[in-house]
Amino acid sequence: MKNKIDSLIKEVEVFVAKSSDDIEKFRINFLGKRGIIPLLFQDFKNISVDSRKEIGQKINALKSLIEEKISQEKKKLFQTESTIDDKDLSLPGDDLKLGSRHPISLVRNEIIEIFKRLGFVISEGPEIENDDHVFSKLNFSPEHPARDMQDTFFVERQSAFSSHTDDILLRTHTSSVQVRVMENQKPPIRTISPGRVFRNEAISARAHCIFHQIEGLYIDSNVSFADLKQTLLYFSKEMFGEETKIRLRPSFFPFTEPSAEMDVSCKICNGKGCNVCKYTGWLEVLGCGMVDPNVLENCNIDSSAYTGFAFGMGVERIAMLKYQINDLRMYFENDVRFLEQFTNSLF
Ligand code: PHE
Repeated sequence: MKNKIDSLIKEVEVFVAKSSDDIEKFRINFLGKRGIIPLLFQDFKNISVDSRKEIGQKINALKSLIEEKISQEKKKLFQTESTIDDKDLSLPGDDLKLGSRHPISLVRNEIIEIFKRLGFVISEGPEIENDDHVFSKLNFSPEHPARDMQDTFFVERQSAFSSHTDDILLRTHTSSVQVRVMENQKPPIRTISPGRVFRNEAISARAHCIFHQIEGLYIDSNVSFADLKQTLLYFSKEMFGEETKIRLRPSFFPFTEPSAEMDVSCKICNGKGCNVCKYTGWLEVLGCGMVDPNVLENCNIDSSAYTGFAFGMGVERIAMLKYQINDLRMYFENDVRFLEQFTNSLF
């Protein structure tokens, strides 16, 4: 038994741990419930009385050697795992990488802030809508081309020959939110609806099947086209600069009468003509008009007592003009080289 203990002592002395797992294995091997040390103590009972003292001391010495070895190896490992002594703690730390807002969020927030100053409040609604809110109540005729599969993503479509009012679809504009507001609130109403919209378009530099809109609605007694013009002029000056001019061209939307499209003077060439404004001096920015009395009646608002104006713009388009981005797809690709350029923007 003496020899056995001596060789164990040697084994312990040469032990080197490479990982904390090694130490744990070593500990279990010697000190675990069925480990070497408990076994030695068991054998100790059968030893003759005259060698007891010597063997007992040897086993105890082995045990404390093992314990010492374990704490030594632990210390060594800890030091190699974190060499804190080698570090220069006076060096400046690594930069914290700050993210940046997406240009669409920046421009959307800026537009919202401008209209908030005029007393508009934000309203939101569902992206999956029914035909009533996207088309029917907005005075779209049953055979209007926007109700075609080529323009609209349908979720559930009734037969082409039956009434459309039960169709479920992805909203093609946020005018649907304004229908919901008109159904649920009494005038005066002054609201803007930002949100995502969906149209069945082939993706290209100039078109995408998902984009963002902000539409506005103002209903009260005596709201006139002059109010619309002044509101849009204020918006354009705030958004594109004090010198900005606007012009309104007659247009058509089923839900407004009269309707117009608004252009702003091209900031890049100051109206002289350049390739951004296609040498016209003007950039098309939004659609607008006086809310059609049919729409007011469809939403239970008395069209003999109230009038209103509405407008709608694409956020991507405004951002393209503001930052001179010439490919819509950039907004959706999440290329960090593109996104990083907006790190310093405020909103
Ligand atoms: N809803 C129209 C569109 O999506 C925009 C618009 C809104 C035009 C309000 C006139 C008035 O194109």
